[in-house]
Amino acid sequence: MDKERQKTCIDYYTDYILEKKYQFCGQHLFISQSSDSRLGTSNFVWEAGLELCRYIEKQNLNFKGLKVIELGAGTGILGILAVLLGGNVTITDQPNVLKQIQHNVTASIPASCRDRVNIRALTWGHDHVQFPSDYDIILGGEIVYYSKTYPLLVSTLQHLSNERTTIYLSSKLWRDFQIHQFYENILPEHFDCELVNRNEEENINVYKVIKKSSRSENQL
Ligand SMILES: C[S@@+](CC[C@H](N)C(=O)[O-])C[C@H]1O[C@@H](n2cnc3c(N)ncnc32)[C@H](O)[C@@H]1O
Repeated sequence: MDKERQKTCIDYYTDYILEKKYQFCGQHLFISQSSDSRLGTSNFVWEAGLELCRYIEKQNLNFKGLKVIELGAGTGILGILAVLLGGNVTITDQPNVLKQIQHNVTASIPASCRDRVNIRALTWGHDHVQFPSDYDIILGGEIVYYSKTYPLLVSTLQHLSNERTTIYLSSKLWRDFQIHQFYENILPEHFDCELVNRNEEENINVYKVIKKSSRSENQL
């Protein structure tokens, strides 16, 4: 066992619980939850996040050399997969979640690839101005569930993207969270939004989202 992995296992017995091994695109990911219950929704790998990992696998999406950002990363599973597939990835969430992401990055990404990952705080609608606007890919697994944050999330997506950015969002269509409204009314004000995958059994959709060009927005 190498020194880094040994360190992970020591953490495992103290601050982290339930390390699970996932496999996508032939890559192994070791994902733990923090034992700190204050992390709330960040403490799980959500089924919609896994559905987006499966979509990446199914579509054989290429991340090599691409500039990627994950929003609301939680455990960081999507961003970690993007690094393992060759991307230069910024994994973000609220400040209190970053330690858990760091733990999973250390467990899953070989030291030789860690220069391609950056873990940073990004609270939607607040910190995005500190980030550039030229990402190739933006990933978000199960980040549409609290209607008060929808305008903040849209403003962050607007800042981070340009017309060449591909945004992938996956959502379980929970009842009562106005999720349809986000994808059918709020997001389409500024973005073209295409349903690219539906898991009927789990009621989870994956959307491919692209910013409308300012020319077509002006014509509306
Ligand atoms: C339901 S979890 C999904 C976690 C992960 N993407 C997955 O699929 O397993 C939602 C995540 O969004 C983050 N989040 C919620 N509101 C946020 C906000 N206003 N700014 C940034 N992140 C936020 C939470 O901290 C949490 O990690």
